[in-house]
Amino acid sequence: MSVPDISFSQRRQQAAEQSIAYLMQQGIENRDVISLAAGFVDEATLPVSLVRESIADILTDDAAGRGVLQYGTTAGSGPLRENLLDHVARLENCTTAELNVTANEIVVTSGSQQLLQHLSDVLFDPGDICLVAAPTYFVFLGTLNGVGVQTIAIDTDEHGMCMNALEEELARIEQAGELNRVKMIYLVSSFENPSGVTLADNRRKQVVDIAKRWSKEHRILILEDAAYRELRYEGEDGPSIWSYDDSRQHVILAQTFSKSFSPGIRVAYGVLPRDLVSAIHDVKGNFDFGSPNLNQRIVSHVLQSGKYQQHVAGLQSSYRVKRDAMLAAADEFFSDLPGVSWLRPNGGLYVWMTLPDEIQTGFNSPLFQQASTTDGVMYVPGEIAYPKGSPLQKQSQMRLSFGVESPEVIHDGMRRLSQAIRHVMD
Ligand SMILES: Cc1ncc(COP(=O)(O)O)c(C=O)c1O
Repeated sequence: MSVPDISFSQRRQQAAEQSIAYLMQQGIENRDVISLAAGFVDEATLPVSLVRESIADILTDDAAGRGVLQYGTTAGSGPLRENLLDHVARLENCTTAELNVTANEIVVTSGSQQLLQHLSDVLFDPGDICLVAAPTYFVFLGTLNGVGVQTIAIDTDEHGMCMNALEEELARIEQAGELNRVKMIYLVSSFENPSGVTLADNRRKQVVDIAKRWSKEHRILILEDAAYRELRYEGEDGPSIWSYDDSRQHVILAQTFSKSFSPGIRVAYGVLPRDLVSAIHDVKGNFDFGSPNLNQRIVSHVLQSGKYQQHVAGLQSSYRVKRDAMLAAADEFFSDLPGVSWLRPNGGLYVWMTLPDEIQTGFNSPLFQQASTTDGVMYVPGEIAYPKGSPLQKQSQMRLSFGVESPEVIHDGMRRLSQAIRHVMD
């Protein structure tokens, strides 16, 4: 007797086709392929001994040890949230009091991906609108798609999302009678994944003004995803978008320890407008009633000891070398290729490359096949970083990551990639 099919929900259908899962699978199955695709951090820099020492310190005392092996609270550890206030103040270059928020507005999540999911759950109904940069973080596009959001891409240049394009789109949406559908503007403010672009300081202020001005029917929130903020290799840190919102009511600041410390620890946090906090607690409560206590304690420990800051300084030096290796290899192998250009990021993990329009880079393109099977190098096709069907979507771009491989292997990977492109161009 045949077993009847499972009847999946609509949300399951919408969660299909995860490019990230495909890429991870490819990376695992093809170990001899050089991965310029994975957005993973550099294994060699993961803080093994620091975490080992921290755990030993935390568990030295039985009573304290029991505390961290117990359930925590949905909002996250109180002491960690106090530490996070100081941490955010350090990043914003101000005093903790000047932040004008309390630990009550901070929620700790298991990776910032969880915060992005929970925000999507509490804010969007199917058909609601989220405005994003073109291109942007493709996993979040999947999250939005999973809750039925209409995602609209806004044009960007080398300084990030173009504010006039954002205003024009909002005006168009208003004309179409759909302004009540716009809930959020999503921005990766520093070293965008995938383009490496950082939103210019004047635009940070402008976007807050725009969100306020267009909050005619309800509040339009800005979700500032600052996942790569601490990975800066050149130039000065500027203030966040969040810092320009004196009201503290329009911007959600999402930050994570994944890129700057360890993605396996899965500790991240959001600084939320006051009236969003209990909504996030409610959905997170349904989901897990709190992120791992021990991991939160480890992060508290390294923040308090000052060892976190030392670790980040070390990371910046080692990633700088890898970024420079990728840019030097791009100059060496791609300069003579007509119509090929790339951006030079001041931080983050990615170099964004554009090929001539006629050379497609997608998973089914001749270039992807040539690169991944014959020449042995993987990249992320740029098209997945645009909402499907967006008029701004380009098919001839790629994200190249310098996170995982060593400078020597990055050099070889870039050589292989240029070989694959030359093959397809001939
Ligand atoms: C822009 C951006 N936001 C959020 C995340 C999620 O990171 P995590 O859930 O590990 O904090 C990533 C991971 O690559 C990212 O690139």
